[in-house]
Amino acid sequence: MIAIACDHGAVALKKEIEQMLDEMGLAYQDFGTDSSASVDYPVYAEKAARAVTSGECDRGILLCGTGLGMSLAANKVRGIRCALCGDCFSAEMSRRHNNANMLALGARVIGPELAKMITRIFLTTEFEGGRHARRVGMIDTLDQGGTLNE
Ligand code: RB5
Repeated sequence: MIAIACDHGAVALKKEIEQMLDEMGLAYQDFGTDSSASVDYPVYAEKAARAVTSGECDRGILLCGTGLGMSLAANKVRGIRCALCGDCFSAEMSRRHNNANMLALGARVIGPELAKMITRIFLTTEFEGGRHARRVGMIDTLDQGGTLNE
């Protein structure tokens, strides 16, 4: 199950991504927004992020004008590793090395075809584990308020 949410700057792109998810046979839960009326992106980032951390959804996709606001907000939710990606290499590495559980996209930065390609890679690439698991564990330590430098 994929959590997906956007602000008013990315409704059209969200619809395109959802169409691709349908074609891929992947179920999703849409947390809004659904119109071009101006909204505050952190509200929608939190809804989708909580769905991921609760286990209700396996991964999440967030979209706003730049992807910046959504990724910054989602990364404030404990347990979220949200990767803002504007290229396919980063999307692949966000999964292989960083075990990102959310993807952020900027609808005013990249076109719909690249956004779909990035999303497909994000959803089909596995985490490599090994030394990367240790590093992701360190991120989790920071996430939980701990330090790596004592
Ligand atoms: C909304 O105008 C815009 O600020 C938002 O979509 C996003 O780009 C924020 O980071």
